[in-house]
Amino acid sequence: MSQDDRGSGRSSSTRRRFLHCASLGTLGIAGCTELDPRRFDPRDRGPDEPESDFSTLIATWRGHDPATTMTLQWLTPETELDESVSVELSPEDDTSTRRVQTEVAQFGGSDLNRHRADVTDLAPDARYRIAIDGAELEGAVRTAPEDVTEPITFAEGGDVGTSSDVPPLHEQAAVWDPLFAVVGGDLAYADGWHEGRWIAFLEHWNEYMRSGNRLIPLVAAIGNHEVRGGQGETPDEAPFFYTLFDNPHREHAYWALDVADELSILLLDSNHTTAVVGEQTDWVEDALAERTDRKHLLAVYHVPIYPSVREIDDRGREAMRQHWVPLLDEYDVDVAFEHDDHAYKRTHRLAGGEPDPDGVLYLGDGAWGRGTRDVHSPDERSYLAVSESELHVIRVALSPDGSRQFRAVGPDENRVDQFDYESAHGSPDSGLENLPAD
Ligand SMILES: [Fe+2]
Ligand SMILES: [Fe+2]
Repeated sequence: MSQDDRGSGRSSSTRRRFLHCASLGTLGIAGCTELDPRRFDPRDRGPDEPESDFSTLIATWRGHDPATTMTLQWLTPETELDESVSVELSPEDDTSTRRVQTEVAQFGGSDLNRHRADVTDLAPDARYRIAIDGAELEGAVRTAPEDVTEPITFAEGGDVGTSSDVPPLHEQAAVWDPLFAVVGGDLAYADGWHEGRWIAFLEHWNEYMRSGNRLIPLVAAIGNHEVRGGQGETPDEAPFFYTLFDNPHREHAYWALDVADELSILLLDSNHTTAVVGEQTDWVEDALAERTDRKHLLAVYHVPIYPSVREIDDRGREAMRQHWVPLLDEYDVDVAFEHDDHAYKRTHRLAGGEPDPDGVLYLGDGAWGRGTRDVHSPDERSYLAVSESELHVIRVALSPDGSRQFRAVGPDENRVDQFDYESAHGSPDSGLENLPAD
């Protein structure tokens, strides 16, 4: 949908929002010029507009069991709705409505507040309607299954931003009815400073990452554009990210999402607010050792160990190669999702960087909206099987029988790549069945 399409019936409040963005632009906040002028800024709400607005509302999981919990959060102006409000999740039969009060926190030093409802004791694999402060919303959530009998589908990518390329990619992902979506860093490109970009990012997610009216939970890893300084910093330098995606069990950005005993995803911090070497690597080894029985064991982090665009030794990936690759190999991680280079790539299965039929597949490289860069070819970098300068989001389907299907799709429904990945052995690419592109 073009901005012109959206402009019909533009209200005075919409114009105010645009002017707000324009003023940010004159202050030199570069990303603002990308914002859809229809984007909502809760600080610009006029007297004729509703008391509250939930256009930034998202669902997420932050570390509790996804089968029985759901976190809902949204932004409000600091001067309004700074009192806790009630959030109710009601199942179809209304028999066991869960009601909690929101926790309100300042949104990373800005003049916005973040409301958060951590709803617990939900039923597995169940759909819930959402009501906030007694008013039912156009929205629903669904918990993860406790017993996995059907394939688990999720969307994966990174490097999103707020450009007009984002909504069509979100719509592609939402069509798959994914249980959740993983963004492997560089979400709003706020760099720890520009809260307005988070408003635009969250509004895109709220509006377009819906399956029907179900909010698709956002599971996030940290990237350099979440952090003032990018790499080698502390959580204090990523105030917006940590206000939205902190975790009840930790004060860092690395953690594990476990879906039943079937699937585990380790979300790691590639030296943005925690060093690769040291406590994080120790945790990676312990976390992998505890999950050797998973049918599907995945890792997600921002900086690619095997980049398709940038230099092979750069951005701290040497330490990741030295300390993480042996662990990914030893514990038979199936796929490591990488980002940051703004392109599409699929490696051969690799062990210690060399082709190996039992090796790890590295998939990336993050272009869920951000403009693409020129890639190196597989001839230039022998670890690459496929490399394309294409915007994309990846559909991942993991079956209880151990099979895995992957499809990378662009904003025009163009198929960038598609392959099946069985747990077979043989040639260097064994188990990878390349399927014809559209
Ligand atoms: Fe990026
Ligand atoms: Fe990045």
